Amino acid sequence: MASTTSGCLCLGSCSSVPASAGATGWRRCAIAASMRVPQQHANHAHDFTEAYPVEDAVLTAARAQAGELGLTCTGPAAGAVLRLIAAAGAAKAVVEVGTGIGVSGLWLLRGMRPDGILTTIDIEPEYQRMARRAFAEAGFAPSRTRIIAGRGLDVLPRLADGVYDLVFVDHDVTEYAAGVVAAARLLRPGGVLVLGGALAAGRVGDPAVRDPATVALREVVKSLRDTDEWVPALVPTRDGLLCAAKR
Ligand SMILES: C[S@@+](CC[C@H](N)C(=O)[O-])C[C@H]1O[C@@H](n2cnc3c(N)ncnc32)[C@H](O)[C@@H]1O
Repeated sequence: MASTTSGCLCLGSCSSVPASAGATGWRRCAIAASMRVPQQHANHAHDFTEAYPVEDAVLTAARAQAGELGLTCTGPAAGAVLRLIAAAGAAKAVVEVGTGIGVSGLWLLRGMRPDGILTTIDIEPEYQRMARRAFAEAGFAPSRTRIIAGRGLDVLPRLADGVYDLVFVDHDVTEYAAGVVAAARLLRPGGVLVLGGALAAGRVGDPAVRDPATVALREVVKSLRDTDEWVPALVPTRDGLLCAAKR
Protein backbone atom coordinates (compact mmCIF):
# COMPACT_ATOMS: atom_id res chain seq x y z
CA MET A 1 0.00 0.00 0.00
CA ALA A 2 1.05 3.60 -0.62
CA SER A 3 2.54 5.52 2.29
CA THR A 4 0.44 8.22 3.96
CA THR A 5 3.41 10.12 5.35
CA SER A 6 2.79 12.97 2.92
CA GLY A 7 -0.25 14.80 1.64
CA CYS A 8 -2.85 16.85 3.49
CA LEU A 9 -5.29 15.76 6.15
CA CYS A 10 -7.79 14.79 3.48
CA LEU A 11 -5.29 12.02 2.61
CA GLY A 12 -4.23 13.80 -0.55
CA SER A 13 -7.52 14.49 -2.38
CA CYS A 14 -7.34 18.26 -1.92
CA SER A 15 -5.69 20.24 -4.73
CA SER A 16 -5.67 23.57 -2.90
CA VAL A 17 -3.60 22.86 0.17
CA PRO A 18 -1.29 25.52 1.53
CA ALA A 19 2.38 24.61 1.31
CA SER A 20 2.88 24.43 5.07
CA ALA A 21 3.97 20.84 5.39
CA GLY A 22 4.71 19.97 9.01
CA ALA A 23 7.28 17.63 10.46
CA THR A 24 5.14 14.65 9.50
CA GLY A 25 4.79 15.83 5.94
CA TRP A 26 1.06 16.39 6.40
CA ARG A 27 -0.56 19.71 5.56
CA ARG A 28 -3.78 21.37 6.63
CA CYS A 29 -6.54 20.82 4.08
CA ALA A 30 -8.06 24.07 2.82
CA ILE A 31 -11.36 22.40 1.90
CA ALA A 32 -11.72 20.71 5.28
CA ALA A 33 -10.85 23.94 7.09
CA SER A 34 -13.54 25.84 5.20
CA MET A 35 -16.12 23.25 6.31
CA ARG A 36 -15.25 23.49 9.98
CA VAL A 37 -18.02 24.21 12.49
CA PRO A 38 -17.13 27.18 14.76
CA GLN A 39 -15.44 25.77 17.85
CA GLN A 40 -18.11 27.12 20.20
CA HIS A 41 -20.75 25.03 18.37
CA ALA A 42 -18.69 21.89 17.69
CA ASN A 43 -19.30 20.19 21.03
CA HIS A 44 -23.00 21.02 20.90
CA ALA A 45 -23.24 19.50 17.43
CA HIS A 46 -21.51 16.35 18.64
CA ASP A 47 -23.62 16.04 21.80
CA PHE A 48 -26.85 16.71 19.94
CA THR A 49 -25.98 14.10 17.30
CA GLU A 50 -25.27 11.44 19.95
CA ALA A 51 -28.39 12.31 21.96
CA TYR A 52 -30.73 12.50 18.96
CA PRO A 53 -31.43 8.74 18.58
CA VAL A 54 -33.73 7.33 21.25
CA GLU A 55 -32.52 4.13 22.91
CA ASP A 56 -35.03 1.94 24.72
CA ALA A 57 -34.58 0.06 28.00
CA VAL A 58 -32.91 -2.97 26.37
CA LEU A 59 -30.31 -0.86 24.59
CA THR A 60 -29.75 1.32 27.61
CA ALA A 61 -29.17 -1.75 29.80
CA ALA A 62 -26.84 -3.34 27.24
CA ARG A 63 -24.85 -0.13 26.93
CA ALA A 64 -24.55 0.13 30.72
CA GLN A 65 -23.42 -3.49 30.93
CA ALA A 66 -20.80 -2.88 28.24
CA GLY A 67 -19.54 0.06 30.28
CA GLU A 68 -19.24 -2.11 33.39
CA LEU A 69 -17.23 -4.64 31.38
CA GLY A 70 -15.03 -1.95 29.88
CA LEU A 71 -16.17 -3.02 26.43
CA THR A 72 -16.39 -0.40 23.70
CA CYS A 73 -19.72 -0.48 21.94
CA THR A 74 -21.41 1.38 19.13
CA GLY A 75 -22.66 4.81 20.20
CA PRO A 76 -26.24 5.95 19.62
CA ALA A 77 -25.44 8.03 16.54
CA ALA A 78 -23.47 5.22 14.92
CA GLY A 79 -26.20 2.77 15.87
CA ALA A 80 -28.77 4.96 14.16
CA VAL A 81 -26.61 5.00 11.01
CA LEU A 82 -26.42 1.18 11.06
CA ARG A 83 -30.19 0.95 11.44
CA LEU A 84 -30.67 3.47 8.62
CA ILE A 85 -28.44 1.55 6.21
CA ALA A 86 -30.11 -1.74 7.08
CA ALA A 87 -33.56 -0.21 6.58
CA ALA A 88 -32.68 1.65 3.37
CA GLY A 89 -31.36 -1.55 1.83
CA ALA A 90 -34.22 -3.68 3.23
CA ALA A 91 -31.41 -5.84 4.53
CA LYS A 92 -32.23 -9.51 4.77
CA ALA A 93 -28.74 -10.88 5.32
CA VAL A 94 -26.22 -9.03 7.47
CA VAL A 95 -22.79 -10.05 8.76
CA GLU A 96 -21.23 -8.48 11.82
CA VAL A 97 -17.70 -9.13 13.05
CA GLY A 98 -17.52 -8.13 16.70
CA THR A 99 -20.80 -9.05 18.41
CA GLY A 100 -19.77 -7.60 21.76
CA ILE A 101 -22.77 -7.85 24.02
CA GLY A 102 -25.18 -6.94 21.25
CA VAL A 103 -25.55 -3.16 21.13
CA SER A 104 -24.79 -2.84 17.42
CA GLY A 105 -26.72 -6.05 16.73
CA LEU A 106 -29.85 -4.54 18.28
CA TRP A 107 -29.55 -1.48 16.05
CA LEU A 108 -28.96 -3.62 12.97
CA LEU A 109 -31.88 -5.95 13.69
CA ARG A 110 -34.17 -2.96 14.14
CA GLY A 111 -33.37 -1.75 10.63
CA MET A 112 -33.46 -5.12 8.88
CA ARG A 113 -36.47 -6.77 7.31
CA PRO A 114 -38.62 -8.69 9.79
CA ASP A 115 -37.40 -11.95 8.26
CA GLY A 116 -33.77 -10.85 8.03
CA ILE A 117 -30.97 -12.82 9.65
CA LEU A 118 -27.99 -11.28 11.43
CA THR A 119 -24.87 -13.45 11.34
CA THR A 120 -22.65 -12.19 14.11
CA ILE A 121 -19.14 -13.36 14.98
CA ASP A 122 -17.03 -12.87 18.10
CA ILE A 123 -14.11 -14.61 19.76
CA GLU A 124 -15.73 -14.22 23.20
CA PRO A 125 -18.60 -16.66 23.73
CA GLU A 126 -19.35 -15.04 27.08
CA TYR A 127 -20.09 -11.71 25.39
CA GLN A 128 -22.23 -13.53 22.87
CA ARG A 129 -24.22 -15.14 25.66
CA MET A 130 -25.12 -11.64 26.89
CA ALA A 131 -25.90 -10.52 23.34
CA ARG A 132 -28.22 -13.50 22.86
CA ARG A 133 -30.08 -12.50 26.01
CA ALA A 134 -30.35 -8.86 24.86
CA PHE A 135 -31.74 -9.95 21.48
CA ALA A 136 -34.34 -12.11 23.23
CA GLU A 137 -35.27 -9.30 25.63
CA ALA A 138 -35.76 -7.03 22.63
CA GLY A 139 -38.23 -9.54 21.20
CA PHE A 140 -36.14 -11.02 18.40
CA ALA A 141 -36.72 -14.72 17.81
CA PRO A 142 -33.60 -16.93 17.96
CA SER A 143 -34.12 -17.64 14.25
CA ARG A 144 -33.25 -13.98 13.49
CA THR A 145 -29.64 -14.41 14.58
CA ARG A 146 -26.83 -16.76 13.74
CA ILE A 147 -24.30 -16.27 16.53
CA ILE A 148 -20.93 -17.79 15.69
CA ALA A 149 -18.06 -18.02 18.16
CA GLY A 150 -14.70 -17.69 16.46
CA ARG A 151 -12.12 -15.42 14.98
CA GLY A 152 -13.42 -13.25 12.17
CA LEU A 153 -10.68 -14.31 9.78
CA ASP A 154 -11.51 -17.99 10.40
CA VAL A 155 -15.28 -17.66 10.09
CA LEU A 156 -15.67 -15.19 7.20
CA PRO A 157 -14.22 -17.60 4.59
CA ARG A 158 -17.04 -20.03 5.45
CA LEU A 159 -19.78 -17.55 4.50
CA ALA A 160 -21.38 -17.51 1.04
CA ASP A 161 -20.34 -15.20 -1.79
CA GLY A 162 -22.40 -12.21 -2.91
CA VAL A 163 -25.51 -12.77 -0.79
CA TYR A 164 -25.13 -10.24 2.01
CA ASP A 165 -26.70 -6.78 2.06
CA LEU A 166 -24.53 -5.32 4.81
CA VAL A 167 -21.24 -6.23 6.46
CA PHE A 168 -20.35 -4.48 9.70
CA VAL A 169 -16.71 -4.89 10.74
CA ASP A 170 -16.19 -3.84 14.35
CA HIS A 171 -13.51 -5.94 16.00
CA ASP A 172 -9.71 -5.67 15.73
CA VAL A 173 -8.50 -2.82 13.50
CA THR A 174 -5.40 -4.76 12.52
CA GLU A 175 -7.77 -7.17 10.76
CA TYR A 176 -9.80 -4.50 8.98
CA ALA A 177 -7.86 -4.78 5.72
CA ALA A 178 -8.71 -8.49 5.58
CA GLY A 179 -12.28 -7.61 6.56
CA VAL A 180 -12.55 -5.33 3.55
CA VAL A 181 -11.33 -8.10 1.25
CA ALA A 182 -13.85 -10.50 2.77
CA ALA A 183 -16.68 -7.96 2.49
CA ALA A 184 -15.96 -7.43 -1.21
CA ARG A 185 -16.64 -11.14 -1.69
CA LEU A 186 -19.62 -11.44 0.66
CA LEU A 187 -21.63 -8.39 -0.42
CA ARG A 188 -24.04 -8.24 -3.32
CA PRO A 189 -23.53 -5.29 -5.69
CA GLY A 190 -25.02 -2.28 -3.90
CA GLY A 191 -24.42 -3.91 -0.53
CA VAL A 192 -22.76 -1.77 2.11
CA LEU A 193 -19.61 -2.28 4.15
CA VAL A 194 -19.39 -0.37 7.44
CA LEU A 195 -16.18 -0.14 9.43
CA GLY A 196 -16.73 0.70 13.09
CA GLY A 197 -14.28 3.00 14.87
CA ALA A 198 -12.90 4.18 11.54
CA LEU A 199 -11.66 7.45 13.01
CA ALA A 200 -10.23 5.77 16.12
CA ALA A 201 -11.62 8.59 18.26
CA GLY A 202 -9.81 11.18 16.14
CA ARG A 203 -6.43 9.43 15.94
CA VAL A 204 -6.81 8.54 12.26
CA GLY A 205 -7.16 12.23 11.37
CA ASP A 206 -4.22 13.27 13.51
CA PRO A 207 -1.08 12.96 11.41
CA ALA A 208 1.09 12.97 14.52
CA VAL A 209 -0.33 9.60 15.56
CA ARG A 210 1.87 6.97 13.96
CA ASP A 211 1.35 3.80 15.99
CA PRO A 212 1.01 0.68 13.80
CA ALA A 213 -2.70 0.12 14.45
CA THR A 214 -3.63 3.71 13.57
CA VAL A 215 -1.40 3.72 10.50
CA ALA A 216 -2.98 0.45 9.33
CA LEU A 217 -6.48 1.84 9.87
CA ARG A 218 -5.58 5.07 8.04
CA GLU A 219 -4.38 3.00 5.09
CA VAL A 220 -7.65 1.05 5.01
CA VAL A 221 -9.67 4.27 5.13
CA LYS A 222 -7.62 5.71 2.29
CA SER A 223 -7.70 2.55 0.20
CA LEU A 224 -11.50 2.44 0.25
CA ARG A 225 -11.59 5.97 -1.11
CA ASP A 226 -8.96 5.38 -3.76
CA THR A 227 -10.61 2.53 -5.61
CA ASP A 228 -13.45 2.35 -8.11
CA GLU A 229 -14.84 -0.74 -6.39
CA TRP A 230 -16.38 1.18 -3.49
CA VAL A 231 -18.48 4.30 -3.00
CA PRO A 232 -17.32 5.50 0.44
CA ALA A 233 -18.38 8.13 2.98
CA LEU A 234 -16.80 8.78 6.35
CA VAL A 235 -19.38 9.58 9.02
CA PRO A 236 -17.95 11.49 12.00
CA THR A 237 -19.86 9.82 14.81
CA ARG A 238 -17.91 9.49 18.07
CA ASP A 239 -15.43 6.88 16.83
CA GLY A 240 -16.28 7.30 13.19
CA LEU A 241 -17.99 4.99 10.74
CA LEU A 242 -16.68 4.36 7.26
CA CYS A 243 -19.58 3.35 5.05
CA ALA A 244 -18.89 2.10 1.54
CA ALA A 245 -21.29 0.72 -1.03
CA LYS A 246 -19.97 -2.02 -3.29
CA ARG A 247 -20.31 -1.18 -6.97
C1 LIG B 1 -15.75 -2.98 19.88
S1 LIG B 1 -16.28 -4.53 20.45
C2 LIG B 1 -17.72 -4.80 19.46
C3 LIG B 1 -18.87 -4.02 19.89
C4 LIG B 1 -20.17 -4.32 19.20
N1 LIG B 1 -20.02 -4.31 17.75
C5 LIG B 1 -21.17 -3.28 19.63
O1 LIG B 1 -21.15 -2.17 19.09
O2 LIG B 1 -21.95 -3.57 20.52
C6 LIG B 1 -15.13 -5.59 19.67
C7 LIG B 1 -15.48 -7.03 19.78
O3 LIG B 1 -14.66 -7.74 18.87
C8 LIG B 1 -14.30 -8.96 19.44
N2 LIG B 1 -13.08 -9.40 18.74
C9 LIG B 1 -11.81 -8.95 18.90
N3 LIG B 1 -10.98 -9.54 18.02
C10 LIG B 1 -11.75 -10.37 17.29
C11 LIG B 1 -11.50 -11.24 16.21
N4 LIG B 1 -10.26 -11.38 15.70
N5 LIG B 1 -12.53 -11.93 15.67
C12 LIG B 1 -13.79 -11.79 16.17
N6 LIG B 1 -14.08 -10.98 17.18
C13 LIG B 1 -13.09 -10.28 17.75
C14 LIG B 1 -14.14 -8.67 20.93
O4 LIG B 1 -14.30 -9.84 21.71
C15 LIG B 1 -15.24 -7.65 21.15
O5 LIG B 1 -16.42 -8.25 21.60
